[in-house]
Amino acid sequence: MSNAAPPSFFGTQPDRFDFAWPGHAVFGAGCAQQLPAWAAARGVARPLVLSDGGLVRAGIVAPMLDALRAAGLTPALFDGVAANPTLANATQARAHWDAHGCDGLVAIGGGSVIDVGKVLIAGLCADAPIEQVLREGERVLTRDAPPFAALPTTAGTGSESTTAALVKDGQGRKHVLRSRRSRPQWVALDPQLTLSVPASVTASTGFDTVMHALGAATNRASNPVGEALALQALALSVQALPAVLADPSSLKARSDMLLASYLAGVAMSLRGVDGIHGLCTPLEALVDVPHAHVLAVTCVPLMRFTLSAAASRYAQAARSCGLGAAGRDDEALAHALVDEVDRLRQLAGLPRTLAELGLHAAQLAPAIEAALDNASLRLNARQPTRDEIAALYQSMRPA
Ligand SMILES: [Fe+2]
Repeated sequence: MSNAAPPSFFGTQPDRFDFAWPGHAVFGAGCAQQLPAWAAARGVARPLVLSDGGLVRAGIVAPMLDALRAAGLTPALFDGVAANPTLANATQARAHWDAHGCDGLVAIGGGSVIDVGKVLIAGLCADAPIEQVLREGERVLTRDAPPFAALPTTAGTGSESTTAALVKDGQGRKHVLRSRRSRPQWVALDPQLTLSVPASVTASTGFDTVMHALGAATNRASNPVGEALALQALALSVQALPAVLADPSSLKARSDMLLASYLAGVAMSLRGVDGIHGLCTPLEALVDVPHAHVLAVTCVPLMRFTLSAAASRYAQAARSCGLGAAGRDDEALAHALVDEVDRLRQLAGLPRTLAELGLHAAQLAPAIEAALDNASLRLNARQPTRDEIAALYQSMRPA
């Protein structure tokens, strides 16, 4: 037997790392029908079903409620989660939980619904006020989480598999809860639930998945498990996003995007993302547009800036996606990856400039300061200085 170390993707396999798997996931068309059996196995009798009004009107929630009732359970519905979820949504959901004596949570929705579910679960695990729970996360969670299932209806933010949840408070400030304990314990990845997602949402959330996978695959983090998952998620999503945009009724394309979103979420929780998100987050404090619209503006300039320090990482990601002819050197493959990301952005109909987001050069000073302190930017393969961040934002052509 050889003592040689197993090969790693970038020759950077660390001596020490850890990984926490998310909970049980089932995958495939129709798998959401396993929900009542999961609830019964976990001893849940009165589940709180958390969703939003749009999904209720689209007829996605009623069959789940019917199935739970048919299995002898007494579900209570709270469908008041907003598109940009608020702390108040979590407080309202908690009021429903208490009023109906609920003993398990079922989140049916996109990232907003699942994020509110995570905040509700964290609150149930703590004796502290919810504001303190958001601030301190896992440290103040002293009780075991009640049973928590998630049925994602978009692909996706990956919220069903990440350890983070984002909610806004009454003043519009964003709070990120980070906690493994409040992650869903059971996830049904059923592509049938995503078939009716409108084209613009399919494009935005799908592009977010590509950015999660790309960031986790090419940043400086050193978790090889997360790296393998990120590369798989990237290869899947780069292929599936154009397919689902061309044919929204394709169950195969919807399935691939849903799996990619889930895997990217796991990878992101193990490795974080990169400077594309690092430059995006400070801009999101200035403008209220979909997350993916900002990512679409930051991605190509940031990748071009990073390329010189990350040619081998980008080339590896390009190879995983089957880009470029065999035998091309790393730099050529890295450029092919940047071009592919730009092609996907265009296909998804997403913007390219800060001007398209309504942002002016004069607004950018606080974003530059915030980017300097951004954890995702610190994970980027090349670290920009303050002047370089300013130049990057300027290259995105503000109004
Ligand atoms: Fe994202």
